[in-house]
Amino acid sequence: MNLKQAAAEKAVEYIKDGMIVGLGTGSTAYFAIRRIAERVKEGLKLRAVASSRHSEELAREWGIPLVSFSEIEAIDVTIDGADEADGEANLIKGGGGALLREKILAHHSRRMIVIVDESKRVERLGAFPLPVEIVPFAENLTLRSLKELGTEPVLREKDGELFRTDNGNLIADCRFGVIADAAELERRLNLIPGVVENGLFVRMAHTVVTGCAGGRVTIQDYI
Ligand code: A5P
Repeated sequence: MNLKQAAAEKAVEYIKDGMIVGLGTGSTAYFAIRRIAERVKEGLKLRAVASSRHSEELAREWGIPLVSFSEIEAIDVTIDGADEADGEANLIKGGGGALLREKILAHHSRRMIVIVDESKRVERLGAFPLPVEIVPFAENLTLRSLKELGTEPVLREKDGELFRTDNGNLIADCRFGVIADAAELERRLNLIPGVVENGLFVRMAHTVVTGCAGGRVTIQDYI
């Protein structure tokens, strides 16, 4: 079994009857959604809310009952991937561009379970460029403010065109080098008018499930 799948399937064991479940986005979350669908077929009762159109399509196709953000007040468990996870429950997310919805889900989740393979575990965040979602107008002004924080933002492209998030926004990928103070950087990014959200999830992971070589899965709890 591949490492992402091993982590994803372990995390799905946390889901119990009657829960509202947040579905992540990406190649690791894919395995979790697939396993959740199997358990639904076996009789598990749950309702799910998806962090992206893509995950919503998978859930619909595989028969997972869905609810919208506006129908729920809290989420019992969210299972989502990450681009980097340090040892203090901090993450970089948004490699798939779904960071805004993912962060809303994570914020409102009683348990946010992060599923990664061991290549995503880092001492300090920052090797992966930080995705920042920005509004699509006045992007030059917003990019200028980002540059003042000491980065050279690169607007993400897909198939030769500017990448658009599910919310119609742009993504600026920002390298900051090693991020010594994630909370402070997050605060400064979100003070920039035009920044919708950024991919720093500061102390947001409650549990990190890591798939390691040899089939071992490790679990770190932060609550
Ligand atoms: C999606 O926007 C991201 O936050 C993903 O969770 C993250 O990029 C990890 O994706 P993979 O599981 O595909 O590596």
